Amino acid sequence: MSQIETLPIADWTPTVAAADTARYAAMLEAGKVLLLPRLRFDLRSDERRFLDPRWSDQKAKNISFDPATAQIKGAIGNAADLEDLRRLLERFHQRAVGVIRALFPEYAAQLRIARASFRPMPVAGRHASWRKDDSRLHVDAFPSRPNRGERILRVFSNVNPADLPRVWRVGEPFADLAARFLPRLPRQLPGSAGVMNALRITKSPRSAYDHYMLQLHDAMKADLAYQQSAPQQSVPFPAGGSWICFSDQASHAVMSGQYLFEQTLHLPVAALYDPASSPLRVLERLAGRALA
Ligand code: SIN
Ligand code: FE
Repeated sequence: MSQIETLPIADWTPTVAAADTARYAAMLEAGKVLLLPRLRFDLRSDERRFLDPRWSDQKAKNISFDPATAQIKGAIGNAADLEDLRRLLERFHQRAVGVIRALFPEYAAQLRIARASFRPMPVAGRHASWRKDDSRLHVDAFPSRPNRGERILRVFSNVNPADLPRVWRVGEPFADLAARFLPRLPRQLPGSAGVMNALRITKSPRSAYDHYMLQLHDAMKADLAYQQSAPQQSVPFPAGGSWICFSDQASHAVMSGQYLFEQTLHLPVAALYDPASSPLRVLERLAGRALA
């Protein structure tokens, strides 16, 4: 069964019938990747100059926009260029948040809007340690920001000017990979959450949920046999298109492409139509206890 659902949405402020918003949310909460092949994020002609890796400071993986301060990080250039680039990221941020509010009005009041990013580096040939290697199937989990089950919702737009797709592998449903890996994940050491928080390795104490999500992320990436044999499909996300998923739930790996915009949003488990579908509840059912 495909993990991809295609939606006929072609503008950033669509009018969506109530029955469709519920249907789209059900797909998303089932862990599908929603593909919007005609939802294009357009760059103006004077903004095309930003489609070049030279704007990256090469230290950060991405150029990011923080909605709390409206500032960008990770870019180099003169003040005028950086202001134009900042406005470009801000515009993507506004469009991406707008389309999420339009598609999922039931989520709107409870969304917590996080950073947007622009990824100008080519994917292929990026060498990273296995833990940071996003060309291995994984679910997203943040080592330094425990979230206690809060969802990670992401909007992506491929703006490649040469019409190159961004190619992902999309893996098996979360319940399947959780059942496969949870029995072999080490338990959280008693006291470790407090120690890591005191040492500022984390920004707040890591819950058992955060512990298991990080272990799951690592165990998936470390298992090369799993990487090859796991149920998966290759998905070319077209240039001029967008896609949306809960990246803490949809198993994914990026294989190739260049020039991507991304917006992250967070949502409490209680705001879902079906909280039982969340990674928190799936892991709790398997573990037989509360994890957050
Ligand atoms: C990831 O979230 O693993 C990377 C996605 C991408 O850069 O396409
Ligand atoms: Fe990821």
